[in-house]
Amino acid sequence: MQSDNWTQKAKDMGFRSRAVFKLEEILKKTRLKNIINVLDLGSSPGGWSQLIVKKYNNSRVFAIDILDMEKIEGVNFYKESIENIHLIKNINQLKGQFDLVISDIAPNLTGISATDLENILVLNILTKDVAFNYLNNGGSFIMKTFQNNNLKTLRKNMELSYNLVQTYKPAASKKQSGEIYLYGVK
Ligand SMILES: C[S@@+](CC[C@H](N)C(=O)[O-])C[C@H]1O[C@@H](n2cnc3c(N)ncnc32)[C@H](O)[C@@H]1O
Repeated sequence: MQSDNWTQKAKDMGFRSRAVFKLEEILKKTRLKNIINVLDLGSSPGGWSQLIVKKYNNSRVFAIDILDMEKIEGVNFYKESIENIHLIKNINQLKGQFDLVISDIAPNLTGISATDLENILVLNILTKDVAFNYLNNGGSFIMKTFQNNNLKTLRKNMELSYNLVQTYKPAASKKQSGEIYLYGVK
């Protein structure tokens, strides 16, 4: 399907972003069950949070982003950077109790390739460490990253703490975007 068609389909279904189809595909493949507490990192405009609420009836979603996010029923949103997640009391109280952590975070690109590569790696490493701290044992983690020279390093680093690390390139993800998703189980 063309990129514009995914966008239209998302709009028709009441979702705020086409990103929902990427997450939906990964969730289908990983066959996750018993999802209650979910942490959505880099959540705005809110497509992934909407999908989680729709898909898992009893879920409680906690979402953070440096940008604002319009209210979604069933989602507790905090305008904060992932670097300061420890400052959010309601999320901290659930440390070790999240069944699923999802991250679609992408850093702002500078256009200077070495700087961008470094920024992506640093943010991804921080994200997988944060996710590990908040997940319960057996909990699942899905994180966006990019196909670049650091991907192997990142994956190996993730394998040090997570079990069953896998890579997904969903059909709804633009080929030229280079984005790719890492999945791991704690
Ligand atoms: C691709 S968008 C997420 C789309 C979302 N998954 C959806 O379905 O609507 C990436 C988000 O990451 C956020 N972001 C970037 N750096 C961040 C950080 N340090 N902490 C929290 N969010 C961040 C951006 O503000 C942006 O909203």
